[in-house]
Amino acid sequence: MKIYKATDYKDMSRKAANIISAQVIMKPDCVLGLATGSTPIGTYQQLVEWYKKGDLDFSGVTTVNLDEYKGLPRTNDQSYYYFMHQNLFDRVNVNPESTHLPDGMEPDSEKECARYEELIHSLGGVDLQLLGLGHNGHIGFNEPGEVFEKETHCVNLQERTIEANKRFFASADEVPRQAYTMGIKTIMQAKKILVVVSGEDKADIVAKAFFGPVTPAVPASILQMHNDVTLVGDEAALSKIPQ
Ligand code: F6R
Repeated sequence: MKIYKATDYKDMSRKAANIISAQVIMKPDCVLGLATGSTPIGTYQQLVEWYKKGDLDFSGVTTVNLDEYKGLPRTNDQSYYYFMHQNLFDRVNVNPESTHLPDGMEPDSEKECARYEELIHSLGGVDLQLLGLGHNGHIGFNEPGEVFEKETHCVNLQERTIEANKRFFASADEVPRQAYTMGIKTIMQAKKILVVVSGEDKADIVAKAFFGPVTPAVPASILQMHNDVTLVGDEAALSKIPQ
């Protein structure tokens, strides 16, 4: 595993964007696996800036996102579809038809998960997967559990997650109860993985995930078994890893 220590969030975002840029420049028709959440926002901003300067071309790139809420229309500003369009897709020259997320409005979970898994395979797999890290070690919507969930599947959101997300909705009733997510195997099949972490509140889980035992109780710990992982974090988030 390669670890890049950044001074702060901005520096982390630049370093992560540099790695994604290198991927796009080296393989203009690459498949990027993308994440939502607060951590990658600065990375997307940096990529947009470099695109606007003429340094990056996304016209040949295909994207597949990690996850999406089930039951939220694309027009809902809490959908990951909306997030990706706001933060990246509408601001660079990626072909909208080459951007993919699970379809949250497909009610048949089995059908949608099989379609998404098949789509990723038909694209030849993910060249570079960007990941954020949850405070409990989750990646995508793969929460701590007894086993590593393998392929794209539908998850029931934990009560904690619903509680935490309700501030973004008019009421707790409107918070989706389920989500579609790439599974651990789907994520592990990516050729390269880039994890971004920021802030002191991530320091404990970063140390546990990357230097603790590999266990489904900390889903991100499986990344220790991948042969091409890059961790980019600011000083605060990396403050508890062994020197
Ligand atoms: C996002 C995702 C999540 C986040 C994680 C960290 O698509 O799948 O696993 O990466 O919850 O979120 P932030 O970056 O907001 O701390």
